[in-house]
Amino acid sequence: MNSKKDNNYMEVFFDKLEFIIDNKMLIKLILAGRRNKISDLKKITVTIVELKKGTRLNFVYKHNTNDITKNYEPEEGINLIRKALENDFFNADIYSNTENINLIINSKGKVLLKIKEATLQPLTNFKHDKIKYRLINPKGNIYLRELEITNEKEEIRREMTDKFKQINKYIELLEPYLTQINLTDNSHIVDMGAGKGYLTFALYDYLTNQSKKNIKLTGVEFRENLVQKCNEIAGKASFEKLKFIEGTIENAELEKIDVLIALHACDTATDEAIFRGIKSDASLIVCAPCCHKQIRKEFNVTGELYNVVKHGILKERQAEIITDTLRAMIMEAFGYRTNIFEFISSEHTPKNLMIVGKKITGDSIKKNEILKNISAVKKIYGIKKHYLEKLLQI
Ligand SMILES: C[S@@+](CC[C@H](N)C(=O)[O-])C[C@H]1O[C@@H](n2cnc3c(N)ncnc32)[C@H](O)[C@@H]1O
Repeated sequence: MNSKKDNNYMEVFFDKLEFIIDNKMLIKLILAGRRNKISDLKKITVTIVELKKGTRLNFVYKHNTNDITKNYEPEEGINLIRKALENDFFNADIYSNTENINLIINSKGKVLLKIKEATLQPLTNFKHDKIKYRLINPKGNIYLRELEITNEKEEIRREMTDKFKQINKYIELLEPYLTQINLTDNSHIVDMGAGKGYLTFALYDYLTNQSKKNIKLTGVEFRENLVQKCNEIAGKASFEKLKFIEGTIENAELEKIDVLIALHACDTATDEAIFRGIKSDASLIVCAPCCHKQIRKEFNVTGELYNVVKHGILKERQAEIITDTLRAMIMEAFGYRTNIFEFISSEHTPKNLMIVGKKITGDSIKKNEILKNISAVKKIYGIKKHYLEKLLQI
């Protein structure tokens, strides 16, 4: 049972939430920390939206394989947040114009409330036409409307501002690499695990409409409904050389790949994507790994180094670092010059590393030396095989 103090903290939290919503100062609220670890519902994000019917709370329910969006009247929404904290989640984070409020309930029902200075840009600064964009134009772009990034006035929808910024940022990062590799007519770009296609459409738009390249772009995705929807949108936008195919990263039938992109493909799906890029002798491989489970399971660390992996979270981070280090080294052994960098602020997502490999030619590639170094790194962590090595049979 909750103590009086716990109940007070909850009431302070909900008083503040109501005030923040009434005054339109809610940037976002995140419910996370599943009470039931096997629940399919991972997270709920709540933002304010202004509809013709009035102010509503927009709930995005993030499930393992899909997101569901619903709008509620503020009072109903607040009740749902209360119920979600009772039944589904241990944590709630409010990001408002004036403060960040963090509510944590432990498994015994004890409540902790932390209030800190605001860290996100206040909403009052939000102006559709003030969003800086350089590469993707919200005006006259059918796909942005169809993907519900823009509204009927071709303005960026407030809840999609982050997505729109992410798309622009992503194109901005890719642009110099794409310029370096000299795309020619019919160069084939493949986006593995294209999902809803936000980034795939934007890349096609940028390359064909801004850079005037005559490329072909294929999005590969195993969810049939997404493939169908994306092909419909490509048709409406008259994006003739953009197509989405239903298939897996490992087995999809594809012509020669010149540029391989795989953003947020889970665990070893990133390795399968890199493998296909290497096998196809792609000029450019770009991936943003998602989760890193394989190497974590392979760690076999004893002695002093055990201290580095004895805490779960630190072990997880080490596994991420080693997984991506080995990916980059293997790509280098196969003739790719690699770069690894953060491509979006960790405030938006902790999964923010991008690995870029650009094919180099000539005999400067010291394959044997790199393979020896790979073995040395693996030995330190007691790793037998990186999944990418298995695929490449090295
Ligand atoms: C996290 S989403 C990322 C979507 C998009 N690339 C992005 O970054 O916005 C990963 C997508 O890859 C798809 N996917 C995962 N593994 C796959 C595989 N082996 N073959 C094809 N699609 C896969 C999932 O269905 C999902 O739509």
